[in-house]
Amino acid sequence: MSTTVSRSAIITGGAQGMGEAIALRLAQEGVNIVVFDIKGKETQLEGVIKQVEAKGSKGFFFVGDVTIEKDIQDVIAKTVEKFGSLDIMVANAGILAMKPITECTPEDFNRVFGINTLGVMLCYKHAALQMIKQGRGGRLIGASSIGGKQGMAEASLYCSSKFAIRGITQAAALELKAHNITVNAYAPGVIQTPMIAHPDDAKNGGLGSTVLANPNLRQGTTSASPSVVGELVAYLCKPEAFFVNGQTITIDGGTYFD
Ligand SMILES: NC(=O)c1ccc[n+]([C@@H]2O[C@H](COP(=O)([O-])OP(=O)(O)OC[C@H]3O[C@@H](n4cnc5c(N)ncnc54)[C@H](O)[C@@H]3O)[C@@H](O)[C@H]2O)c1
Repeated sequence: MSTTVSRSAIITGGAQGMGEAIALRLAQEGVNIVVFDIKGKETQLEGVIKQVEAKGSKGFFFVGDVTIEKDIQDVIAKTVEKFGSLDIMVANAGILAMKPITECTPEDFNRVFGINTLGVMLCYKHAALQMIKQGRGGRLIGASSIGGKQGMAEASLYCSSKFAIRGITQAAALELKAHNITVNAYAPGVIQTPMIAHPDDAKNGGLGSTVLANPNLRQGTTSASPSVVGELVAYLCKPEAFFVNGQTITIDGGTYFD
């Protein structure tokens, strides 16, 4: 990847939290930004694009759902139509789900895996197809979690959906390295975003989010602002990060060690 050509990024779940921070950090690098999020987040999405433009980058928002394959195809097609290429896909959208294993239903499983895992797979798949067509490499980046490295009580669905991101990321990295496309994921600890501050199902697309009430998650855990993840993603998108591939990078203030 060259820094002299203009590059474009799609960030799913880009209306708030980590997605917003990643969008703004990549805008700072001069990357064209497309923020993708669900219906109802239009005002927040508009606000992100205003901040992107204030940084001198171009951008637009797209309303869609990461579980719908056509929405992913459409946002990629629109990105390429507007900016000429897709170079970075950040499959960031996700929901938190806190429920004891004894209460989990197939509906819960399908919803959590639909957004957290299928959503990432669809983003990787269609972004890779576009990047292969372009022939100039690219960056695929997914959202895992420290819950994707080690199980947490009352989070079997969330943790398993985030463990799966590591598998998809490793397999895709092996398949795509011949095309100079790297595939990595971030595995944050507690990051101060609406997911944690306002675990509100209706607002954030989640179900049964009760992090603040769960002492197992709070104890001994430090937290950080979403900009720390924005910095990591910005690094992964640099040409010199070509040698980092297939990794799920823990970023949690030293809580969990691989
Ligand atoms: N905040 C944390 O402490 C933390 C820790 C580890 C991992 N993560 C992961 O990082 C990612 C970002 O988390 P966050 O804290 O910024 O969360 P957040 O809830 O603040 O933002 C997530 C965004 O994803 C969007 N979204 C939900 N379902 C969607 C769908 N079907 N299609 C498109 N967009 C959808 C939401 O509308 C929301 O804007 C998530 O994958 C999350 O699981 C978060």
